[in-house]
Amino acid sequence: MSFPQHRPRRLRSTPALRRLTAEYRVSPSDLILPAFIREGLTEPSPILSMPGVFQHSTESLKRAAAVAVERGVGGIMLFGIPSHRDATGSAGIDPEGVLNRAIADVRSEVGDSLVVMSDVCLDEFTDHGHCGVLAEDGSVDNDTTLALYARMAVEQANAGAHVLGPSGMMDGQVAVIRQALDDAGHQDTVVLAYAAKYASAFYGPFREAVDSQLKGDRRTYQMDAANRREALLEVELDIEEGADMVMVKPAMSYLDILADVAAVSRVPVAAYQVSGEYAMIEAAAANGWIDRRRAIEESVLSIKRAGAQMILTYWAPELALWLGDNSN
Ligand code: PBG
Repeated sequence: MSFPQHRPRRLRSTPALRRLTAEYRVSPSDLILPAFIREGLTEPSPILSMPGVFQHSTESLKRAAAVAVERGVGGIMLFGIPSHRDATGSAGIDPEGVLNRAIADVRSEVGDSLVVMSDVCLDEFTDHGHCGVLAEDGSVDNDTTLALYARMAVEQANAGAHVLGPSGMMDGQVAVIRQALDDAGHQDTVVLAYAAKYASAFYGPFREAVDSQLKGDRRTYQMDAANRREALLEVELDIEEGADMVMVKPAMSYLDILADVAAVSRVPVAAYQVSGEYAMIEAAAANGWIDRRRAIEESVLSIKRAGAQMILTYWAPELALWLGDNSN
């Protein structure tokens, strides 16, 4: 009986061989840390459903950004939690609003050594918690919302954001934002479009993180989990409208979508490992049911392997530390 000449196990026999022959590798510069700042806090406040993640004060946010720089993390994505909310989310546009001030503070802390990104969406700022303004009948009004996104984007660029992340899934949002930025002289501000963002149960802990006021769901504007082909249409439209980069979100339950998008996109592709993905692994690890570090590393590697060049993950700073450690 003859044995096959190819014995794939040969390349698995030592850690050094496995490292040498690895097809994919995550590096700290691939990672983007999503971070929350809450107006009025003097100390960071823990988010119970996301152990290890905090609503930041100005000072603690600046420290977190400095740590990200030290560890070689690629970027930071900022979300703001205002003290006052209204029907149109005006605190999101106010140049003195919590998010716009945080962008300026973080930029003054890190300069150009970390890519500073911000969320262009009204949900944290509206008293009803939807990503846009409501029409008389209670539905989310696409085109009225677009005008507010345009103003919000310009204020965020004025505050110093390098990259804007429109996450509201309004049709035409990228075109309107691009035009407004160009008209305001912000030709070099980058747009990272949340192109294929699904209505997902995995955003659950994020709603606690931002004290969301939402009742109901976002199914009239975020994508349906049943749809795959439609993600390519969303990506194509966003690229035509001027998106510099596109995102798939969530990541782990949507790796097929991510692979599809990565296969066709002419612009860089990001994926967002969302709050629920974080919470599941943390909860299992806290119970001793899973090896925390290995599960985190494997989950992020799977997102890279599926085609993401950039990965938003709440584990970015810790993962960046581990990545410098070749002991395993
Ligand atoms: C909307 C937004 C959400 C997330 C990022 N941007 C919430 C939503 O769409 O309901 C979720 C991120 C996460 O769950 O980690 N501004």
